Amino acid sequence: MNEELKEAIKEVYGLEKEAEVLTSNRPDLCDYQYNGTFDLAKEIHENPYNIGLKLQEALEKKESCQKKFSKIECVKPGFLNFTLSDTYMNELLNEMQTKEKFNVSMPKKETIVIDYGGANVAKPLHVGHLRPAIVGEAIKRLLLYMNQDVVSDVHLGDYGLQIGEVIYGLQQESKTPEDVTLEILAEIYPRISALCKENAEIKTICETITKEMQEGNPTYQAYFHKILEISREDIKRIYDYLDVTFDLWLGESDAYPYIPKLTEELESLNLLKTSEGARVIEIAEESDKQEIPPCIYQKSNGAYLYGTTDLATIYQREKDYHPSKILYVADSRQGLHFIQVFRAAKKTNSLKHIDYEFLGFGTINGSDGKPFKTRAGNTPKLDDLFLETKQIFLANEEHNVEYTEEDLKKIINAIIKFADLQNNREKDYNFDIAKFSKTTGKTGPYVLYSYLRTKKIVKNNENYIDKLSKTIYNVHDRNIRLKLLELNDVLQYAFKTRMPSVVANYLYEICVFVNAFYENNHINNLEDCEKKRDWVTLLDLTTKIIYDLLGILGMDAPSKM
Ligand code: ARG
Repeated sequence: MNEELKEAIKEVYGLEKEAEVLTSNRPDLCDYQYNGTFDLAKEIHENPYNIGLKLQEALEKKESCQKKFSKIECVKPGFLNFTLSDTYMNELLNEMQTKEKFNVSMPKKETIVIDYGGANVAKPLHVGHLRPAIVGEAIKRLLLYMNQDVVSDVHLGDYGLQIGEVIYGLQQESKTPEDVTLEILAEIYPRISALCKENAEIKTICETITKEMQEGNPTYQAYFHKILEISREDIKRIYDYLDVTFDLWLGESDAYPYIPKLTEELESLNLLKTSEGARVIEIAEESDKQEIPPCIYQKSNGAYLYGTTDLATIYQREKDYHPSKILYVADSRQGLHFIQVFRAAKKTNSLKHIDYEFLGFGTINGSDGKPFKTRAGNTPKLDDLFLETKQIFLANEEHNVEYTEEDLKKIINAIIKFADLQNNREKDYNFDIAKFSKTTGKTGPYVLYSYLRTKKIVKNNENYIDKLSKTIYNVHDRNIRLKLLELNDVLQYAFKTRMPSVVANYLYEICVFVNAFYENNHINNLEDCEKKRDWVTLLDLTTKIIYDLLGILGMDAPSKM
């Protein structure tokens, strides 16, 4: 209807104006509203209510508007309110039901590399690893849903100081690479890392080991490969549990072979400057409001840094996939790092054509607003967190359902993911498993429960699924239909902003409406066949849409609840 409004403004005032109709914030009065009369009023010095009346008149004459709206009304002080016609709504819904992906329009297809997960090897996964995995996975699935060519890469942190620290610890205990186990890693890493914080000498030794390993020292390489193998397997196990999957299991170490070529290009463009013995890329810009320090490319001892591997990784991705975009899902506190990397990349010839997006996420806090800790005061390991979630869910479960492990896994996933994804990813949120695992409120179990209930009604009345007639029977019925019609806008917006929360909140609203719908409209014993056909058909469409939205969020429904 934006088009029609644009035309009406042109017809009445001879002005070329973009016009945007919004979803109504007074659903009791209308479905959509246009508030642009107030801006127009300033421009043409006419009272907004009069403008609204004239536009209303022009719109009412249009055939397309007569078809789409049962009512167009200008109300004081100048809002234009639109109410969709039942016939038109049902026409759109029928189209959603028959067309692929509910007739959602697809953006231009692009090759997009998405970098998320990013766990550092040799350290056990804890609650802080949830967001990069969950948020990243949801964004990836959203891109895939919108028909993009997606390459996902876990980009493990596998070549940093922690490896040198672990090798040092292993050697101190005369352990060979073959001796390395997960348990040994879990013990050695925190101990030596703490030691390095107190003892500068040991830290220097570990730094030297790290650097020599990066340069190819065979002894250290043997340790590195074993540590990587064991740690990666464990990381994979946890990501598998979360249904988080990657096309590429690469890491910082895989970027090293690309450093020489990258260096060559940077040198030829005269981009590497020496500063206090280190080699840096200056990336400050005149318009910077705060100081943006140079990207350190190589330390004075010759070692490469986080920014270097990120640049070399872009080199690798460009060579292998020619992406038009690379998306990075990482902690918001890494914002500066990515500004540096992106600016440096934009200075090259071979990487400047790529669009880079940093998609930051906030912190998971405890109810005290500080980073989440267990009662014992440590950051909970993910295995323990999954177990605790399961216990809490089962303890407040009132339905006496016997769950299979597979179903419990799906429920735990839904609890954790929906709690996270309903928040704007950039914001921090408080972790509260007891609240997240309730079947009421804005929770994963509530969403799953609504889905299963709706699906069951459809299943019980399967042979009624058909096309919708022209009728809408009551307000609950209308609410859910109108909500489903938002799908296209919701997905476009979520795609554009890379915000899974937009999808999660929409999914929740659908569930609220569908609950109100079946509480007020009893289908199973309905005698009016036409009404029954319409309602079962509507719920069938609803379950299918919920199913796809769950999928985008990385959630899956259990067989029963
Ligand atoms: N390993 C990093 C960390 O734990 C996150 C990696 C993010 N991705 C990247 N390409 N830098 O902080």
